[in-house]
Amino acid sequence: MEKMVIEGGVPLKGEVEINGAKNAALPILASCILLEGKSCLGNIPDLTDVTTLCSILNVLGLKTEQKAEKSLDICVEDESGVTAPYELVRKMRGSICVLGPLIGKRKRAKVSLPGGCVIGNRAIDLHIKGLEALGARIKIEAGYIIAEADELKGAEIDLAGAHGPTVLGTCNVMMAAVLAKGRTVIINAAREPEVQDTANFLIKAGAKIEGAGRSEIRIDGVKELKGVEYDIIPDRIEAGTFMIAGAITKGDVTLKNIRFENLTTTVNKLREIGVGITGNNGSCRVFGSERFKPAEITTLPYPGVPTDMQAQLTALLSVADGVSTVSETIFPDRFMHTFELARMGARIKTENGCAIINGVESLTGATVMASDLRASASLIIAGLGAKGVTEVDRLYHIDRGYEKIEEKLSKLGAGIERKKY
Ligand code: EPU
Repeated sequence: MEKMVIEGGVPLKGEVEINGAKNAALPILASCILLEGKSCLGNIPDLTDVTTLCSILNVLGLKTEQKAEKSLDICVEDESGVTAPYELVRKMRGSICVLGPLIGKRKRAKVSLPGGCVIGNRAIDLHIKGLEALGARIKIEAGYIIAEADELKGAEIDLAGAHGPTVLGTCNVMMAAVLAKGRTVIINAAREPEVQDTANFLIKAGAKIEGAGRSEIRIDGVKELKGVEYDIIPDRIEAGTFMIAGAITKGDVTLKNIRFENLTTTVNKLREIGVGITGNNGSCRVFGSERFKPAEITTLPYPGVPTDMQAQLTALLSVADGVSTVSETIFPDRFMHTFELARMGARIKTENGCAIINGVESLTGATVMASDLRASASLIIAGLGAKGVTEVDRLYHIDRGYEKIEEKLSKLGAGIERKKY
């Protein structure tokens, strides 16, 4: 087992390089199932989620080869496999993104149901609805989603769900539709930059897709897609996390390899809280202030405040003046981190998908347990800003989405160390 030991209270200073976006890399890697020939993907982050997906793709007959740092060659060698096994899928909900490409290209798929998730219900009804509309026959049997089709045909599909659009559901339907016969129109599509990046990759490979990044996506099926070279967009959630780490320590941090335009709502919220941010596409500077102002935050689908930034923002607001509220509309139960933050002195009450935060002067170090990826980031941020030593346990969550986080934070001056025990 590993834990992160953090000596809090050191202002972070210097430059940090942001890696490629996990949530774009995953569907883009999966969409390589659809392609003929080799692709070379750049800006691939070194994360356990990426390794897990590569293992699933290897089982499905794709060869993956790391040629240089952050760059991966990938191509289909054998199309006979259609099973994504439970042993791998259970490690990562995002594995569901192989379902669309498998049914789209191989006309059969057997993908394990990912199972429970600590951030709340992760339904797949919209994925199934979309793929069925394209002509797939889908059943759930012995813990697996089993999909079959003779031919996929374009259709008009409304992917609106009770909590807004679905990111990977949109990717799955888009990936299945690119080789289908005729036109598919996705209404209420997710507009996240990662969906757009997946579409841009597919377009470069020969797909006909219009409207990605907007709520209506039109796809005209083509006969074949070819391997290409492509660079994944920078990770807006890693960027936002480092912004808050810089702010809570009252530091002065410059972020490199970012797309500022994808960070607009996070940046606006942080500015409202009192964080100094200047920047443009490519890089930005973040500097903290002596005290932070309270805020009302509601997570929403893009371009709203991302649910994947909620835990980190909650950590920052726990040391802001006055009362803040954080409403979580995407995953209303995603508040496990608040109970751990409370162990560090935060005053947070949660009810009905909302956290009410009474800001305190400062947090104090404690031993805390990470429950999921963004909760780990929130606890590390809290530890960096706290008085004394914080130990974050169940560290494996952080490596799913943050590349060498302790190295990056150490370079900024943080007192942080990964310890085996
Ligand atoms: N939903 C349904 N039915 C479905 C699919 C989703 O009701 O068939 C609901 C979900 O239960 C949730 C909402 O719709 O309430 C949004 O879920 P979505 O499908 O958009 O989530 P996802 O695609 O499974 C991706 C990211 C998550 C991120 C969410 C929301 C990846 C690999 N994962 O998940 O990222 O929180 O979108 O933006 O892209 C993370 O990186 O830490 C993470 C959890």
